[in-house]
Amino acid sequence: MTLRVAVLISGRGSNLERILVEAERGVLAGVCEVAVVVSSRAEAGGIAVAAQHGVPAVVVASAGRSTEAYGRDLLEALEAWHVDYVVLAGFLRIVSREMVARYRGRIVNIHPADTALYQGAHGYAWAYAAGLRETAVTVHLVDEGLDTGPVLAKRSVPLAGAATLGEVVARGLRVEHELYSETLARLFVGEMKVREGSA
Ligand code: GAR
Repeated sequence: MTLRVAVLISGRGSNLERILVEAERGVLAGVCEVAVVVSSRAEAGGIAVAAQHGVPAVVVASAGRSTEAYGRDLLEALEAWHVDYVVLAGFLRIVSREMVARYRGRIVNIHPADTALYQGAHGYAWAYAAGLRETAVTVHLVDEGLDTGPVLAKRSVPLAGAATLGEVVARGLRVEHELYSETLARLFVGEMKVREGSA
């Protein structure tokens, strides 16, 4: 048995790409299958990434939709794919209360900062502007708040000597890519054990 996962994106899709590779031949192989990629933007680079890996991608455009209305659009789109988990990978919309309730404890996000120190978008720009010598990335479950859900994993990103925002982002993404798949594997294997135990 493998878990069925939807990956939600808004942009480049580098975390998506790593998850797809790990699901094919890495720590997520035999653990989960990316059933569908959902993008909030038609122009997102991650749509091509999904195609390269033979995974269906659907666009559920978020422009002009309120959080709650967009949440309903997403729920409707996800319904057909019967997923166990929703994985946010650079998804830049707030998740609606209805969606959190529908997938409680089953929506995971990666955040480019320590969620206790900084919430919202542009976490690397914040770290760079503040001149931090170290920042962090956090994998957490999504609840009703902005980056307030239970932390599953956090890892430090050393920034000493990073002269540009681009360098900060590059260092952060290297850590994100490793940490996200590792953490998802741990979470999903645990879930599978619970299911086997209750079978
Ligand atoms: C990543 O840095 C991710 O942590 C961030 O968006 C980027 C997406 O990159 N997410 C957030 O800021 C969510 N608040 P990717 O599209 O290359 O995976």
